[in-house]
Order: sequence, then C-alpha cells, then structure tokens
Amino acid sequence: MESPLALDLVRVAEEAALASARWTGRGDKNSADGAATAAMRTHFDKVAMDGTVVIGEGEMDEAPMLFIGERIGSGKGPQMDIAVDPLEGTETVANGLNNAISVIAAAPKGSLLHAPDIYMHKLAVGPALAGKLSLEDPIEVTLAKASQILNRSLADITVSILDRERHQEMIAALRQSGVRIKLLSHGDVMGAIETCTDSGVDLYVGSGGAPEGVLAAAALSCLGGEIQGKLIPETTEDHIRCRSMGLQDPRQLLGMEDMVGGSGVLFTATGVTSGDFLPGVKFLPGGRAETHSVMMYSRTRTVRYIRSVHTLESLNSPLYAAVSF
Ligand code: FBP
Repeated sequence: MESPLALDLVRVAEEAALASARWTGRGDKNSADGAATAAMRTHFDKVAMDGTVVIGEGEMDEAPMLFIGERIGSGKGPQMDIAVDPLEGTETVANGLNNAISVIAAAPKGSLLHAPDIYMHKLAVGPALAGKLSLEDPIEVTLAKASQILNRSLADITVSILDRERHQEMIAALRQSGVRIKLLSHGDVMGAIETCTDSGVDLYVGSGGAPEGVLAAAALSCLGGEIQGKLIPETTEDHIRCRSMGLQDPRQLLGMEDMVGGSGVLFTATGVTSGDFLPGVKFLPGGRAETHSVMMYSRTRTVRYIRSVHTLESLNSPLYAAVSF
C-alpha cells in the first residue's frame, strides 16, 4: 500500500498547505480553512484509490466537501478509509502563529474509527511510555508512574495540554505535582506527535477534538507512541451520533486498535506555519514556494521528511490565480 499512494497523499497535503498559507495572519480562519479544504478536495481526484472520508469537515448536511461518507479518489485502486484535517489550526493561521499543519491519514477500508465531532479525553505518550499508562488513572498516578518508568524526577518531566478554561483543574494538579508544563494555544494533533519527537514533551493530556484524536492515533502508530481516548458525548444527539458511528458504548476507553486498527496506516502532514517539527510554507521569488512534509507508514515505521519546491504557475489551479509575488 505504501507507494505510490503515499507520495500522492503528500502532494494533496502540500496543496492544502499552499492554499491556506496565503491566509497567514489575515484574521480570517474560515477562508484559511476553506482554501485548504477546496485544494485538498480538488487534488484528491487525482489519487488512484477508492476512498471514503471517515474523518472530515463534518456531516454531509454541514460541509460542502470532504464530508463524512464522501467518496474521494479516482475510484480505481485500493478501498481506503480517509481521515483529513485540511487545516489543523485554523485560528493559528488566522493569527499567524506556529504549528498549523494540513493532515491526511489513510488505511484500508474499515480500519479507522469514525469519530464524531465532539470532545475526547486524551492521553498521548512516546515509545518509552507506550502501553504502560492508563487514561483511567488519576493524573497524579499517571505522573508518578511516568516518573518511575522514565527514571526521572517529576521536575524533569514535561506535559503538554491545551490552554483552556475546561482544563483549569488539571493544570492546577499538574502545577501541584511539580512537572514542567507546555500550554498549547491550539493544535493537539501536533501536541500528541511531539511526545514522539525530540521536543522534550513526555505526555500530552486533556481534552480536544475526537477527530484530531484519530489523526493523532494514526501518527503515533507510525512513531511507536500511544494515544488513549474517551469520547465526551454531552447531548442526546451526541450519544445518537456515537452509536450511528458504530460505538455501542460512547464512553468506552479507546485504544490504538480501536482508533486505527492493525492493518497499516499512512500518515502525512505538511507544515502551513512553522513549528518545531515541520517548517511552514515559504513563498519564494519567481512564483515558487517551498513546503516541508512528513510521510509515515505504521507497518514499517518509516518516517520520511520531504522538502518540495513548487512552481505555483504549473499547478494550474484557479486557487492560485490571484497569487502575485
Ligand atoms: P481547528 O483547526 O478546527 O481550529 O482545531 C484546532 C484545535 O486546537 C484542535 O487541535 C483541537 O483538537 C481542538 O481545536 C480543541 O478544541 P477547542 O479549541 O474547542 O478547545
């Protein structure tokens, strides 16, 4: 499955990143997201696969494209589940901040969790802690276990968490324990990925979007890390949506197997704005632009970094018609 589908998917993520990067710092998150989504949708048509969106821009009645259930790809080729976030970090781009990415995960049909667009409690860790902690433990227990396993004092452990009102109690507990804390303004797919890089972050905790949880699971399955999740259905409608997506117990503990199955997942991300893991889109003189992407495959645990230089004119897309340098 890995090739040439892998490279095709990188190209699709690159196109989304290029389109949304034009909106950096312009204070318009909807246009940034819309540009990424339209570019991604257009370029999926060129990919030789029979894909179905399982994580996308929303339900059919609320998203014009890349909605859940939409068939994408040329229709010829392997049957795939596709999870996308054309722009992970819409506010980030709107405010010109770091760490926005365009993301795609792909796996054989039936392997990705069809997560509804609600919140999910998450615990993500890198290879050293994978399989050794439980989301069901109180945070103090989790930290004590992590400290023991890593053989490091709590003061030498770094935990990241979204900086949100709903996390006040957890942030207070983290501060009380003495760990170092990285507060994220947005972007918890990257927050989870960072537990597997040399970022210095050991654990990602707290709640974020459930779709982002599945995307993070795809990435971590390629990097040897682990994410556990628990959906947070709040309304009757949330419960109904969870059930209609095949989750009989919406509050069950979800492990890697539940979220990405075991049959091999491809994950690609392209930097939109710069981050520690991926540089963002750079527009160059002469109508060119540079992108940096990562492509990973869980079966082989191969992680490829791809630097591409694009000649925007040759993309021949109306999306770039207004671009001037
Ligand atoms: P968007 O790209 O849709 O804006 O999501 C960014 C994000 O930070 C996700 O990474 C995260 O899962 C979610 O928002 C958290 O939601 P909230 O901002 O409501 O806490």
